[in-house]
Amino acid sequence: MERQLEELRKQFLDDLEHIHKSEDIDPLRIQYLGRKGRLTAVLRQMGSLSAEERPRMGALSNELKAFMEQSLVAKAAALSTAQAATGIDVTLPGRVLRRGTIHVINQVMEEIQDIFRNLGFAVASGPEVEDDYHNFEALNMPANHPARDMQDTFYFSKGILLRTHTSPVQIRVMESQGIPVRIIAPGKVYRCDFDITHSPMFHQVEGLWVEQGITFAHLKGVLYEFARKCFGPDIPLRFRSSFFPFTEPSAEVDMGCIICNGSGCRVCGNTGWLEILGCGMVDPEVYRFVGIDPETVTGFAFGMGVERIAMIKYGIDDIRLFYDSDLRFLGQFA
Ligand code: PHE
Repeated sequence: MERQLEELRKQFLDDLEHIHKSEDIDPLRIQYLGRKGRLTAVLRQMGSLSAEERPRMGALSNELKAFMEQSLVAKAAALSTAQAATGIDVTLPGRVLRRGTIHVINQVMEEIQDIFRNLGFAVASGPEVEDDYHNFEALNMPANHPARDMQDTFYFSKGILLRTHTSPVQIRVMESQGIPVRIIAPGKVYRCDFDITHSPMFHQVEGLWVEQGITFAHLKGVLYEFARKCFGPDIPLRFRSSFFPFTEPSAEVDMGCIICNGSGCRVCGNTGWLEILGCGMVDPEVYRFVGIDPETVTGFAFGMGVERIAMIKYGIDDIRLFYDSDLRFLGQFA
């Protein structure tokens, strides 16, 4: 029996040597150690041994059994490291690559730009880090002007700030290209303000059309066209007189609430209207800052909040959703 055990150990080692795949380990274990395995078969003969021989044979076969078990575990470990080293386990399920989507705010910006491009507006841009002159001064808001208070400005050093609106692009475009101009300027703006309807960074689209003979009627025509393209042909607009230092006369434009169709609801504060933009005829003072004779031209400007428009369009009630990077939210706009 001792010889049989010795022979079994040799065969086992030989078989083990020829295993190159982890899947082949278990069959080998069963072949030797299973209920009908080869070692088990040898152990069955213990009964026929003499009482003196039995303890020694018992110890020898237990030792062989432990040896086989350890060898199998060691071999399995060696094979799995080797597999990991080649880096490929073709039996694993594949990894799904999620396709990204254009952020809903960018989609709405694209849509707004398309509408104005079709109306003959070119797209302009300006810096987000602005100087006081372009953000305020040249827009007829001198130092200590009360309108500066409304803007909750983020300042860097003296005279340098994060632009609080896209209106400084009006100044930059008139400075650099003179008139006539017909541009929109989409971009990020910053204000120190944060709650469910305000974000410290948000997006605006500025519009500016300056040319001989431009009137308030052109402004209304362009904004109606925009609203119909963006929200459907029957959308009502309301022009409320307002004040901006850089336009005169000025107006704020409300759109009929698309949630309640104007009958009044929580979203529109029971007014039936939602404010979407500020606008007006360019103030003559602004032309002086950019070296244009105010007697020679007229023009209008407007500035709309992109998040506002996206919230109305899709019935979103919390502006923070746009910036939480929650794919369950963003994926709905694929
Ligand atoms: N810049 C103004 C704002 O951010 C909006 C505006 C733009 C008003 C152009 C009139 C003309 O509130």
